[in-house]
Amino acid sequence: MHPPSLPHVPPSVCPAIPNHTGKYISMLRKLFAPLALGIAGIALTAAAVHADLPAAYWSHPAATEGASPHDWQAIERDLSPEACAQCHAAQFADWKASMHARAFSPGLIGQFPQQDLSDNNDCLKCHAPLAEQKYKDMKQLTASLKLKLQQQQGFNSDAELRNSHLPLRHAGVTCAACHVRGWQRFGPPQRNTGRSGKIDGPAHGGFTGSKEFEQSQFCASCHQFPEEYAINGKPLENTMEEWKQSRFASEGVHCQSCHMPDRKHLFKGIHDPATVREGLDIASGIDHGTASLSIASIRIGHAFPTYVTPKVTVSIEALDAQGNVLKQKEWEIGRHVAYDNGWQEISDTRMLPGEKRSYELAALPSQARSVRFRVDVIPDNFYKGLYRDLLDEGLQGDAGRLILLAQDGAEQNDYQLYEHEEPFDGFEHYRKH
Ligand code: HEC
Ligand code: HEC
Ligand code: HEC
Ligand code: HEC
Ligand code: HEC
Repeated sequence: MHPPSLPHVPPSVCPAIPNHTGKYISMLRKLFAPLALGIAGIALTAAAVHADLPAAYWSHPAATEGASPHDWQAIERDLSPEACAQCHAAQFADWKASMHARAFSPGLIGQFPQQDLSDNNDCLKCHAPLAEQKYKDMKQLTASLKLKLQQQQGFNSDAELRNSHLPLRHAGVTCAACHVRGWQRFGPPQRNTGRSGKIDGPAHGGFTGSKEFEQSQFCASCHQFPEEYAINGKPLENTMEEWKQSRFASEGVHCQSCHMPDRKHLFKGIHDPATVREGLDIASGIDHGTASLSIASIRIGHAFPTYVTPKVTVSIEALDAQGNVLKQKEWEIGRHVAYDNGWQEISDTRMLPGEKRSYELAALPSQARSVRFRVDVIPDNFYKGLYRDLLDEGLQGDAGRLILLAQDGAEQNDYQLYEHEEPFDGFEHYRKH
């Protein structure tokens, strides 16, 4: 099923496992083999452009490979995010609230008992990517499910370090995953001097500064699938390519410019209403008996939304004096794919960077007294369906409890992005015309 070379590459599928048939596991396996080869290609290209970084920075990354620096204090050797926090408090505080810190999630590991060890470690290639975070055996896996149920919120830099530690995999896409290889720290060019290359410093043997940290390519190993596995011309995760084709690439506005402003480790995206509002320009109104809502993608560096997992709905409703809906229309913004003897794209109504769209409800009824405009976001739409299917299939025990937690969490992520109610005197309008 898996080609032998698999352990070196992220095979990945995750946001991409629609489960319309309920045959989740088997589909996943079908998908794994071809994708594995494709992503091997990407890992190599990524390595080639990282001039200042070690060639294998993203393929099979290990933070503690090679001789351990014997003159370091315990805190400098410690890879846990709480340890980094002792000296990098600001980055820790921001990262802790980000989805990267929550990537070792109940929804992820609740699926693990149904897969074998190597499949699980493949998922970790993006969700907890270091060699130090991999499972060595099924016993560790079972233990991690229990621990996750007891310890939902893991990170506390104030606690006595030794007591606050969870195994490193619980820290998901942790500091060391992006910054430590072979014991050395790598980061962007030094803040005040702009210096790159090896820089001496008072802690952890200094660090290596590299401009690669400021470029979109740095994020690609987890946020872009290879072109070879395109469905209808586009891989299921195509964020980097979408960015390359946008004006942001030519203007040098990288992923970090929007997701890490001033180097802050926020990584906010579709789960944060304020971030989404900043990326869009939304307006609504009524003209000549037609209600319209316009959306323009003004500051999003890729398709809105970029993944196949979220769903956005737009609705316009004509209401009578009592608030009853007289006439209404609803639209979807998102990409729908399904597996049926191969992946198929059902529809793709996502908005490209710079695109502007208008949604209209024409011929408003004469009894209408107002029009309600809404835009709603369901960030985890795909996963909600997946969790429901897993629970319907009778998933139990610790895994079932974790999936139930994940389902609750996913429900709570839904939000209303925009709502506006505009008065309309239908009678008056039609009398005049
Ligand atoms: C190529 C990188 C990659 C791989 C490999 C990967 N994922 Fe993900 N996963 C992501 C990204 C990126 C997101 C966030 C998508 C979004 O913005 O909603 C995500 C989100 C998720 C979520 C929803 C958020 C959460 O953590 O609860 C689940 C569940 C999940 N993945 C499960 C899996 C499983 C199971 C596997 C292995 C079969 C897997 N993933 C493999 C990148 C990956
Ligand atoms: C004992 C304090 C201490 C601890 C613990 C510590 N660091 Fe540092 N770190 C420093 C100092 C001091 C610098 C140098 C800052 C400079 O020269 O601009 C630094 C620099 C860095 C840089 C480079 C910043 C840049 O400008 O590019 C990175 C990245 C980094 N540390 C990551 C980490 C990570 C990840 C951990 C935990 C695994 C960690 N550090 C633990 C003190 C610490
Ligand atoms: C997903 C990858 C990722 C993770 C996880 C991550 N960082 Fe960073 N970090 C970056 C990138 C990229 C930059 C450079 C951003 C830029 O230049 O715009 C950076 C910059 C830094 C800097 C330099 C900040 C400055 O103002 O000069 C430090 C220090 C640092 N990170 C420490 C940490 C610590 C500590 C953690 C964990 C609490 C962490 N990072 C988690 C990717 C990451
Ligand atoms: C090692 C893999 C990895 C790398 C490298 C990585 N990410 Fe992520 N990222 C993930 C995973 C996994 C998630 C989903 C976490 C979850 O919810 O389970 C995620 C989530 C996100 C989200 C939150 C999306 C949402 O749904 O709201 C943003 C934004 C993001 N990443 C941006 C970045 C940027 C920018 C970079 C580069 C500086 C980067 N990531 C590098 C793995 C990675
Ligand atoms: C010009 C600003 C901008 C740039 C550049 C940008 N993003 Fe985003 N990104 C956003 C905004 C705003 C959102 C929220 C709306 C949305 O989900 O599309 C977002 C959402 C996301 C999400 C949430 C998941 C989803 O389905 O939308 C991820 C993951 C993400 N970005 C990753 C990246 C990566 C990786 C890059 C670089 C290749 C990048 N972004 C470049 C502004 C930007």
